[in-house]
Amino acid sequence: PIVPVLLAGGTGTRLWPVSRDALPKQFLPLMGKHSTYQETLLRVRGPEFGTPIVVTGPDFHFFARRQAEELGIDVTVVIEPMRRDSGAAIAAGAAITLKRDPQAVVLALAADHIVLDPEEFRKTCVAGRAAADLGRIVTFGIKPTEPKTSFGYILPGKAIDGTETAEVERFVEKPDLATAARYVQDGYLWNSGNFLFRADVLLGELQRLEPDMASAVEESVARSNTDLGFVRLDAEAFARSPQKSIDYAVMERTDRTAVVTGRFRWSDIGSWDALFDIAPTDSNGNVLQGPVTLMDAKNCVVHSENRLTTLIGVEDLVVVSVADATLVVPRARSQEVKDLVAKLKADK
Ligand code: GDD
Ligand code: MG
Repeated sequence: PIVPVLLAGGTGTRLWPVSRDALPKQFLPLMGKHSTYQETLLRVRGPEFGTPIVVTGPDFHFFARRQAEELGIDVTVVIEPMRRDSGAAIAAGAAITLKRDPQAVVLALAADHIVLDPEEFRKTCVAGRAAADLGRIVTFGIKPTEPKTSFGYILPGKAIDGTETAEVERFVEKPDLATAARYVQDGYLWNSGNFLFRADVLLGELQRLEPDMASAVEESVARSNTDLGFVRLDAEAFARSPQKSIDYAVMERTDRTAVVTGRFRWSDIGSWDALFDIAPTDSNGNVLQGPVTLMDAKNCVVHSENRLTTLIGVEDLVVVSVADATLVVPRARSQEVKDLVAKLKADK
């Protein structure tokens, strides 16, 4: 089977005040009743998939297990002693999988994305499988709608025989705006941040390209212990890993990548504004969550927890109201929420 490895260790500040250091966005219901972490688990239930491995930090492991239990899904929760970015987290998931099954294919998944068509998502994974078995690291490309600097870009090449994937001519992580605009013109795809590969292949490439990361992570797994059912990575070894994302550590530099085009609707909800790409709207284009009443309001995001929030005669606003904080920001400036959070931390 394909072993899902969920990356659930990120801290999302751009969806403040709902997402907090103490409770990051992947564990929150941003749309509907399940958290994006739970939705991710639900997407990989089925005969093609094995027991998911969840890699998260020491503040969230009970959360990760409890939210899986709520769905009746069995998971292995791996505790990272400190954050070493997605490179080390994916490597840890791959090394644990490899110990259990030397042939295993891993599906590394961001746990903080929204996918609207789970069946299409499953089909895309199955479509990538043959290339992964052949030793490719398969990326999931999304057709871009605008130049965004927060994504990786993939230039697809010719089809790879016997698979439903294509060669990757180039993988470029987070280009500047002018370059991103050119890439959109030139037929590049967005990297969705999910990867399918044989565990031995990914670790082999990591040993070649980032030997310090590979050895630190492999040692932390070899010296890990199991405690209340959690796999606790060895802190001293893991701390020695460089802090680097998988995109910079491997994807930009390996020649083993392949790409399958995802036909699912997808968002990484990188800001409040991004909800418009994916969430259902009312007849005036508003995205609403919680008790909200509007008069003559258009194209707003309103998120209200445990209280009534009301708007009259405004447009293109984000209004978020939770127990201890309220945010009001024009839609076009919702990227600046992360700066606001930095300011709040500095002022403290
Ligand atoms: N366990 C763990 N530990 N997870 C982590 C860590 C860590 O130290 N750091 C990041 N993650 C998780 C995040 O929670 C997220 O689910 C995933 O790894 C990717 O990390 P991000 O920090 O969100 O990356 P990004 O959004 O800037 O960029 C990636 O995703 C884009 C698509 O959303 C890249 O893969 C881009 O190329 C891609 O376009
Ligand atoms: Mg992300």
